[in-house]
Amino acid sequence: MIVTPKTRGFICTTAHKDGCKANVKRQIDYVKSQPKVENGPKKVLVIGASTGYGLASRISAAFGCGAATIGVIFDKPADRKRTASAGWYNTAAFEEFAAQDGLYAKTINGDAFSGAVKQQVIDLIRQDLGQIDLFVYSLAAPRRKCDDGTTYTSVLKTTGESYTNITVDLATNTVGEVTVEPATPEEVEATVKVMGGEDWSDWVKALSDAGVLAQNAITLAYSYIGPKITWPIYYNGSIGAAKKDLYQTSVKLNEQYKDLGLKAYISVNKALVTQASAAIPVVPLYITILYKLMKQMGIHEGCIEQMYRMFAQKLYIPTPEVDEQGQLRLDDWEMREDVQSKVDELWSHVTTENLKEYADIDGYWEDFYGMFGFGIDGVDYDKDIDIEAKIPSIPE
Ligand code: NAI
Repeated sequence: MIVTPKTRGFICTTAHKDGCKANVKRQIDYVKSQPKVENGPKKVLVIGASTGYGLASRISAAFGCGAATIGVIFDKPADRKRTASAGWYNTAAFEEFAAQDGLYAKTINGDAFSGAVKQQVIDLIRQDLGQIDLFVYSLAAPRRKCDDGTTYTSVLKTTGESYTNITVDLATNTVGEVTVEPATPEEVEATVKVMGGEDWSDWVKALSDAGVLAQNAITLAYSYIGPKITWPIYYNGSIGAAKKDLYQTSVKLNEQYKDLGLKAYISVNKALVTQASAAIPVVPLYITILYKLMKQMGIHEGCIEQMYRMFAQKLYIPTPEVDEQGQLRLDDWEMREDVQSKVDELWSHVTTENLKEYADIDGYWEDFYGMFGFGIDGVDYDKDIDIEAKIPSIPE
């Protein structure tokens, strides 16, 4: 099949197998070009391991630290007419490259919120690894189905009052005003259920009860804070309520599993293009302005640069570098005063006419299509390819 991008709203419904593989290879090559992480983790579980920050964490652990990894993903294989999801192709490529380097890598494809998947992971750790010393929780999901059948759906809204600011319409490349309506208390509660800390905590409990968490293990979950212009919609919005709950969960986990020596960290990461962030009003305009400035200043990073830096320079050092709240701050460069004051300045002058000059629209689309394996250098997109891909550790 000749595979081309097919977009619907904020998503691309096709993915390119060779492009995804090249993407994974580029990330592995980046990590291999950096110094090995001394005293890094050796047996790692990553939830949400197929794309974005979770995939970059898995690659950093495997190729930067030589770790055995188990990944949990929620992806679709190809069927005769439809390509697999990008996460499926990424994982197939990751396992292939890991095997070439003699690294253990197995994957479970299923709903991480469910008790059944938790049990499957525990059985696999018992069988193959005994215990894990790092547990990364990098799930980004629009909804959560609980084992009792209740489904919670998250929303991207403000809390309290409606909020109006400028945004970019990426379909037409125009700058215009948008008003975001407030979430109801029920919607905020549902968003916290999906993206807050409850399921992270359930995982830690299940792993600890089963005795598969090593003494002095580390667990990580990812968050975002960002600048004040995005606060009404992000940090003080419904998703922010979930992220505050995630932080409170880290505090509780540190207390509850003190005897095990468990360290639970929140890593506050940089704003990057993902399917989720494209859907948040106001944020895409911020991201495109930020990309432009950080690239000009030579300090732009993608997921892999962020996650490698976290392992090598923030976490696996004699004393982890944390802020007053105990959080790892990978948004340190994004939040630099010189970066944010320039963002503010450009934000107050940006219009449809000067959008390309002030904002990195091309970089945005490059990253967006790149997530699905399109627009990658060296990939022949005119080639008729077999869209099937096997993830070696997943039975057919
Ligand atoms: P992503 O969409 O690239 O990755 C999400 C992963 O979760 C994928 O591997 C997907 O297969 C998996 N997943 C989704 N639902 C699942 C389910 N029910 N069961 C098992 N796996 C499931 O998202 P991204 O951006 O990497 O987000 C990961 C974390 O990083 C989130 O907590 C997000 O809030 C946080 N973060 C993201 C930032 C950004 O700008 N993208 C910035 C800072 C933090």
